[in-house]
Amino acid sequence: MKIAIGSDHGGFALKVVILPLLQDLGHEVQDLGCYDTASVDYPAFADAVCEKVSSKNADCGILICGTGIGMSMAANKKEGIRAALCSDHYTACMSREHNDANVLCLGERVTGPGVAEEIVKVWLATSFGGGRHLRRIELFS
Ligand code: RB5
Repeated sequence: MKIAIGSDHGGFALKVVILPLLQDLGHEVQDLGCYDTASVDYPAFADAVCEKVSSKNADCGILICGTGIGMSMAANKKEGIRAALCSDHYTACMSREHNDANVLCLGERVTGPGVAEEIVKVWLATSFGGGRHLRRIELFS
């Protein structure tokens, strides 16, 4: 899959962990920044990743900030984006199966690297269930 990834300074260290995992899993990764721990504004990176997803230049996106909250709020403002802030295996799985999430948000200060790797793996491996779940996401205004 083509995956766009972005973080702010609060998510940079976790992004450094997730990037090689994605590459090891065989995905084509576009890292849209940031590229160090200098303080930056997270909405810019949410915008960049969401643009790749909504324009279909990426199949899905991953956004990481300190809590994952700001990234998920910013991403969900964007047309066609269903961003899910996940902190465990179950919500990662359900966000794909029931909500067809196309952007995964993680919080570096909330979720340790081992759990984050498991979240990313299950999120990428889980398919949308369709059916009644499609009807429900189509009701999003
Ligand atoms: C940056 O300090 C922090 O506010 C940001 O990474 C994120 O947690 C915002 O939601």
